[in-house]
Amino acid sequence: MVLEENVSLRPYNTFGLDVRARYFARFASADELRQLLRLPQVQAADKLILGGGSNLLFTQDYPGVVLKNEIRGLEIISEDADTQTALIRAGAGESWHGLVEYSLDQGLSGLENLSLIPGTVGASPLQNIGAYGAELRDTFDHLEAVEIATGALRVFSAGECGFGYRESVFKNTLKNQFVVTAVVLRLHRQARPNVRYGAIAETLAELGIEGEPTPQDVSQAVIHIRRSKLPDPAEIGNAGSFFKNPEVSQAKFDHLKSEYPELPGYPVPGGVKVPAGWLIERAGWKGMRRGPGAGTHGVHARQALVLVNHGGATGGEVRQLAEEIIASVRQQFGIELHPEVNIL
Ligand code: FAD
Ligand code: EPU
Repeated sequence: MVLEENVSLRPYNTFGLDVRARYFARFASADELRQLLRLPQVQAADKLILGGGSNLLFTQDYPGVVLKNEIRGLEIISEDADTQTALIRAGAGESWHGLVEYSLDQGLSGLENLSLIPGTVGASPLQNIGAYGAELRDTFDHLEAVEIATGALRVFSAGECGFGYRESVFKNTLKNQFVVTAVVLRLHRQARPNVRYGAIAETLAELGIEGEPTPQDVSQAVIHIRRSKLPDPAEIGNAGSFFKNPEVSQAKFDHLKSEYPELPGYPVPGGVKVPAGWLIERAGWKGMRRGPGAGTHGVHARQALVLVNHGGATGGEVRQLAEEIIASVRQQFGIELHPEVNIL
């Protein structure tokens, strides 16, 4: 538990951006975190809690303290014979996919659709991570968090987290006030395959899996789809979807559909969710590259919702590109895109 100065954050963000933190420290327990929070340099400075850095865009050096969460621990804390469920408690610094694999190894179902999402367990409630027909909130029981101002431990139930599509209280009213230290999930002893997302059934067939799929089968299918669509940050810098999928009113959707009959849309309470990837592709951005040589940054060629750093780009350049995409989608479709990635 050392407070280092002037540390490169390049290894700690999946965009691979070469920025520096004024101060940097790791903590492996809630107590170590409290000790750090009591240091005068830490008290006086802005604080950034860092997990895997897979949902961050640094546009400049970080002028405060970066606190990297390395709290480990995976355990089944209780079994309920009546509901055939078990509670798993995961330390916030565990890798999310490591938790998914652990749950499958323990014969538990519920996390398979969320396989291979990068990052840590502690960040998963921040935006209520979701993919392939599931969200964190479907299995979430409660979390433990340390209040930055007081060091006090607080437990948040699902209701208190205010989960929505890529949303929670920790991104809004309680932003920068709590450090998540552990997450507890309720998982099922009996397999409950969720193959609502069309591509999963298609991929299971492609992989030669017939009949009722096991949770491991669904996990394999999701991993297969993700690898075919999303760039691996170890090869190309990115933070997954850069924007959220926007929601529009039914009237607005009908109007757009008359002009663009092939526009996809999914009903949600109060309107229709439209894939931002489709809008961005249609606005002509897919696969574009900018910068010297073959281009340092741009829009991924297989997934228009993912902005990428091919190497050598700055966060400011990526943000500039994002702003131009927002303006162009607004102009062409009258729809406002909002970043999903946390821009610093
Ligand atoms: P970081 O990037 O380190 O932090 C993200 C935010 O959470 C920051 O504001 C940070 O301060 C805060 N934070 C982190 N840890 C804590 C903590 N313990 N307590 C309080 N605040 C904290 N997301 C999805 O929802 N679905 C997907 O399918 C998906 N696919 C992705 C694919 C790729 C290739 C990539 C690169 C990203 C993808 N993401 C996806 C986004 C990302 O993986 C998730 O948002 C993930 O939960 C971020 O975890 P992290 O530990 O890297 O968080
Ligand atoms: N599409 C295009 N062109 C593109 C990309 C997408 O036309 O270049 C259209 C297609 O119509 C496609 C639809 O968009 O059918 C949806 O695409 P996809 O299934 O790839 O999903 P997405 O909407 O782009 C969302 C999440 C992902 C999550 C996947 C799977 C958001 C912002 N993104 O992406 O989450 O993995 O669904 O459920 O909700 C992330 O949050 O970082 C992330 C990767």
